[in-house]
Amino acid sequence: MGSSKLRIGILTGGGDCPGLNAVIRAVGKTALHEYGATIIGIEDGFEGLVEGRMHELTARHLSGILNQGGTILGTSNKGDPWHYPVECAPGKIEIQDTSFKAVRNLQQAGLDVLVATGGDGTMHIADKLGDLGIKVVGVPKTIDNDLAATDLTFGFYSAVSVVCESLDRLHTTASSHHRVMLLEVMGRYAGWIALAGGLAGGADLVLIPEIPFTWEAVCNKVRERARDGKRFSLICVAEGAKLPGGEEVIKALDHKRTDAKQLGGIGAVLGREIEARTGLETRVTVLGHLQRGGSPTAFDRVLATRLGVHAGHCACRGPYGVMAALRNGEIISVPIKEAIAKLRTIAPGHQLVQAARSVGTSFGDET
Ligand code: F6P
Repeated sequence: MGSSKLRIGILTGGGDCPGLNAVIRAVGKTALHEYGATIIGIEDGFEGLVEGRMHELTARHLSGILNQGGTILGTSNKGDPWHYPVECAPGKIEIQDTSFKAVRNLQQAGLDVLVATGGDGTMHIADKLGDLGIKVVGVPKTIDNDLAATDLTFGFYSAVSVVCESLDRLHTTASSHHRVMLLEVMGRYAGWIALAGGLAGGADLVLIPEIPFTWEAVCNKVRERARDGKRFSLICVAEGAKLPGGEEVIKALDHKRTDAKQLGGIGAVLGREIEARTGLETRVTVLGHLQRGGSPTAFDRVLATRLGVHAGHCACRGPYGVMAALRNGEIISVPIKEAIAKLRTIAPGHQLVQAARSVGTSFGDET
């Protein structure tokens, strides 16, 4: 049993995903029950840290939340302390470095360690805080599954289940109406959700940022199916897939975020082009935040709990500057720096890509 004076701060940063509460519960229960630590929940990610908004999480707060979606702490993707939007005059936002406030609030709250649950952006911030001497422990979260140094992030397979169910539903209506059905899914600059979701839902075409597609190959696949008597096609497209000219489709820019780009809209562009080129009736569904909402799957509850328990132990006895990670079935600690060194994207020869090709899925790149 460690010192009962240990104070552990925990926050959830970036976009939410199923499993965050399972992590909060696992970190909190481990630190509370095994080390007698005090757990302080920081509200709305790094925004709450900069603004000094936090409260104690007791055993009561940590109970009954395993299956709840979202995060009981709240989150934000606009709270980077080094890129913080400050309203300096009515309606006038200025981006400022407020990292000194984050550090000061951690010290004033007497926090010995900060557990940061998040994706790439959150880990970058955690790493910078670590460089300033703060003891940090990371937990990898994101539906995008794009964090390096871990085989998987929790939240990913919950999102993939939603994609799979959606493709199943689109399948029946596509075949009744003999249509091309496009499903646009999230994933940012990585195609993991589209690839795994497309495999699970039997998409005929999967379009991802890592594999450039051509209009000819996409339309040929759809036409070929029609010629073979399959008068419908299912296409799963990642929001970050690039058009044949190489451009991304960007919905909006939000300069309050470290990465201002909000991707979205490629489904509509594809739908128009495929209909014009093939003459086949085409419909587009954008799955959006349905992929991030709701309860975690059993798989994600187990993964989130394992990662959270590991992070709880690290928070109470070290090592610091590390992220809990899944590697070959084991939960281990990896340096946060390793996790942020690069984005984890899909190698074109990845086994999942090969498996998809073997069952006849096209990536729109055939010559
Ligand atoms: O990183 C998670 C994610 O859901 C991405 O897949 C997506 O591009 C982005 O967040 C959407 O962000 P927002 O919720 O701010 O629209």
